[in-house]
Amino acid sequence: MTLGTAWEAGRLDTKRGQPRVLFGRMYEDPEIERAAFAPGGRVLCIASAGCTAMQLALRHDSVVAVDINPAQLAYAGQRIAGVAMARGTAEQIMRFGRALLPLAGWKLATLRAFLALDDPAAQHAFWREHLDTRRFRAGLDTLLSLATLRAAYSPGLLASLPRRFGAVMRGRMERCFRTHPNRTNPYARALLLGELSRDPPPREARRVRLVHADAASFLERSAAASFHAFTLSNILDGATAAYRERLFRAVAHAAAPGAVVVLRSFGEPAGDIPGNRAADDRSLLWGVVDVRPAADFAA
Ligand SMILES: C[S@@+](CC[C@H](N)C(=O)[O-])C[C@H]1O[C@@H](n2cnc3c(N)ncnc32)[C@H](O)[C@@H]1O
Repeated sequence: MTLGTAWEAGRLDTKRGQPRVLFGRMYEDPEIERAAFAPGGRVLCIASAGCTAMQLALRHDSVVAVDINPAQLAYAGQRIAGVAMARGTAEQIMRFGRALLPLAGWKLATLRAFLALDDPAAQHAFWREHLDTRRFRAGLDTLLSLATLRAAYSPGLLASLPRRFGAVMRGRMERCFRTHPNRTNPYARALLLGELSRDPPPREARRVRLVHADAASFLERSAAASFHAFTLSNILDGATAAYRERLFRAVAHAAAPGAVVVLRSFGEPAGDIPGNRAADDRSLLWGVVDVRPAADFAA
């Protein structure tokens, strides 16, 4: 790690080798950014699979999407050009996990019936009665235990996960199912069925500027006060405290007056975070979706 982030390797595991496409799609609900950012202006996002960048391009004058992983950046470029979604390393790992679901007693027909519901109260009851079984709980907790995850993830990435991750994730899933209608939730289908989106890119996506860089370095060399919004994915999960501080300083430097920052994390919130929108994000996964003024990052 020369920069101070485990993402630098472009791989989820510790094996040496070429950077890979890690994410075939994104697991971040852009409705968070839509609610948090004023339209227009210049926005910085993390490229990942390009989903957020393309959504931002619909409402903002200019979108810069940076990624530290050249393979991931090239993939985002292909998606913007209209190439179909493919499965990355994360989707392959999740496919392995889903293959075990029949062992928990889950049947495809039951799952499809659940995902067709649109009343959160009915979903919650269905979840409790048919899916949140003892075997499912034990299976997920084993699958998401450090001992199992070590096979696929580097220590740097694992260090960012909360203790008892299986139980924490089950809680986040249940929170989502009792809050958001399943029928209109593409993230529930992506997670539980492995569904990829077939939506073509919007025309505005061509305006996204892709940059191969880590976010802190890119922002440090950007003009002062030149961005009106920042959405930084969960790039600090797996980064050192020094990189975190550097990124916050760089955001403060590049932020225009009134700029807003969205920062996600798998971690559990440490205490009360007033701007935590994790429960509003339909992608189920997050412990923290922190929405706050960039001015908070100024020393
Ligand atoms: C943090 S990961 C996690 C996946 C993400 N939550 C999603 O749903 O797509 C997303 C992307 O961030 C990129 N990344 C990680 N740290 C970065 C950094 N410091 N600067 C720029 N890109 C970074 C990774 O290469 C990856 O493509």
